[in-house]
Amino acid sequence: MRVALIGPGTVSVVHLAAIEKLSASIGLELAGVCDSRRDHREFLDDVRPEVVHICTPHDQHVRIATDALERGVHVLLEKPVANTVAEADRLVAAAKDHPDVKIGVCLQNRYNMTSRAAYDLLLSGELGTVTGASASVLWHRDEAYYAAKPWRGLRSRAGGGVLINQAIHTLDLLQWLLGDVTTVTGHAGCYGGASNEVEDTAHLLLDHARPARSVFFATTTNAVDSPVTIEIVAERGTLYLRGDLTVAYADGRAETVSELLPGGEGRSYWGASHELLIADFYRSLDDPEPFWIGPAEALKAQHLIDEIYRHTS
Ligand SMILES: NC(=O)c1ccc[n+]([C@@H]2O[C@H](COP(=O)([O-])OP(=O)(O)OC[C@H]3O[C@@H](n4cnc5c(N)ncnc54)[C@H](O)[C@@H]3O)[C@@H](O)[C@H]2O)c1
Repeated sequence: MRVALIGPGTVSVVHLAAIEKLSASIGLELAGVCDSRRDHREFLDDVRPEVVHICTPHDQHVRIATDALERGVHVLLEKPVANTVAEADRLVAAAKDHPDVKIGVCLQNRYNMTSRAAYDLLLSGELGTVTGASASVLWHRDEAYYAAKPWRGLRSRAGGGVLINQAIHTLDLLQWLLGDVTTVTGHAGCYGGASNEVEDTAHLLLDHARPARSVFFATTTNAVDSPVTIEIVAERGTLYLRGDLTVAYADGRAETVSELLPGGEGRSYWGASHELLIADFYRSLDDPEPFWIGPAEALKAQHLIDEIYRHTS
């Protein structure tokens, strides 16, 4: 199978490593890589891949993904789907127009061992009613981070800061684990000064349809990249995720699920699950159903982000 990648920057290394690893087991061939110096349409027409990985800045996602779908090329798109939900809706519509072409979005943390264990346990009902949760993303992004890739600090190119760029994964997990969100309130703003255009800190309060309520705190003004935390309180136990997942049951039992350690060239805080998502996406190509994390599914977290941006910009 001929595979291509558009956007050979920081995150592309984990995609290229996964393609390399899968090349032997499922017969992938990296047919070409395209950066911003080349027109992506020309590239797609020349290389004619069956699958394209899109790892460009956010403002390019919808345009490139739509052009690929129109050429019958399956798309694996880095998060977020787009800068705004309105823009992303164009891709959702294009995906509906091309039902035979697969599109997946890299919300790879849903493939973490700990996320999957938490999801399965909550679904089993063993813990009883869920009453609430809290989550935090406390990371460090300084002036050098924005200077290295200036698009990250521009609202027009990145769509925003900590919420859309870093915390989107954990917000997605929170709504995946606790269920759809009916209302979100909160605030996003600049506190640290590393970027003066995109927010570095956000506080959210989420009401889930379950019903349950959760609170979310994300900032890139932290001194270090701390592990993401999620705590979920239920009738018969508490789930505590910080690196590993610990489940403390009301009857005194405790269980721990260890997370896979990331290998290769990725950053430790990206987690180890890019490779699992990418392998699953390729497996899904033989499946008649759409990939389970398509643009509409990935937009659930983006609707919340849009809502906060609308009220605080
Ligand atoms: N899933 C994750 O954990 C994770 C982690 C990091 C980044 N990301 C996402 O990956 C994407 C890229 O982030 P990055 O940090 O690697 O960015 P980057 O700036 O390091 O790389 C972007 C690359 O895209 C290329 N590019 C830009 N416009 C292009 C165009 N029109 N055609 C072809 N190539 C183009 C640039 O030349 C560059 O090589 C973003 O969507 C980001 O949010 C996801």
